[in-house]
Amino acid sequence: MRKPIIAGNWKMHKTRDEALQFIYNVNLKVPNKEYVESVVCAQAPVLRDLVKRQGENLRIGAQTMHEQTEGAFTGEVSAALLEDLNVDYVIIGHSERREYYNETDEGVNKKIHQAFRYDLVPIACVGESLEIREKGETDAFVSNQVKAALKGLTDDQVKNLVIAYEPIWAIGTGKTATPEEANNAIKSIRSVITEMYDAGVSDETRILYGGSVKPANIDDLLAQSDIDGALVGGASLNAQDFLTLVNSAQAKVDQ
Ligand code: 13P
Repeated sequence: MRKPIIAGNWKMHKTRDEALQFIYNVNLKVPNKEYVESVVCAQAPVLRDLVKRQGENLRIGAQTMHEQTEGAFTGEVSAALLEDLNVDYVIIGHSERREYYNETDEGVNKKIHQAFRYDLVPIACVGESLEIREKGETDAFVSNQVKAALKGLTDDQVKNLVIAYEPIWAIGTGKTATPEEANNAIKSIRSVITEMYDAGVSDETRILYGGSVKPANIDDLLAQSDIDGALVGGASLNAQDFLTLVNSAQAKVDQ
């Protein structure tokens, strides 16, 4: 069984004090990391403080990074610095980055390669707009995103990669894909990996669902065959809600 991951994406929320308070509230209560990976992805300036205070079972992630090692890229954050700070995960190609900062499939692929060079686990995001879904082109669109993202990765890298399927129309809207819709899209992503890689690789890649995940819908999502966890925006800002989500993942493991 693939180990579930619940990753909070705080986006541009929380001051340092608020971030630390959250960590203190959840540190001792998240499940054992042997069974569930509980991750919080925060704004870059607080990453060091959070890593220093992360409990044994909590992991910290960044929300983006640059594909180059260093250079004249004002305002950017390097993979080398994230590794140096002992950050474990980095979200790559979130739809908000693609939409507001012109991130492309090609750039996402470069960033994934760069993350692996620096021992970071990439959480690579894909997902379609409402327009694409209504045209019935979801699988074709998402497959292309996945193929582009994985270009040139080895079997081992793909086994360690985390993919997040986040339909854009479900992000921050309160509209969740039904568990079946989410599972079908994720199955289709897994079949793209099966086509591209050796037997067994796609069984190990963790694929998360993201888009209005909350305590009220997490159990139904995790009950699906191919959903290995969630990338959570709004609901991850509240410590109690985050704990409910990670505990649901633990309950799935215990079944
Ligand atoms: P919400 O959970 O707020 O819909 O955000 C989803 C998301 O974008 C996580 O990366």
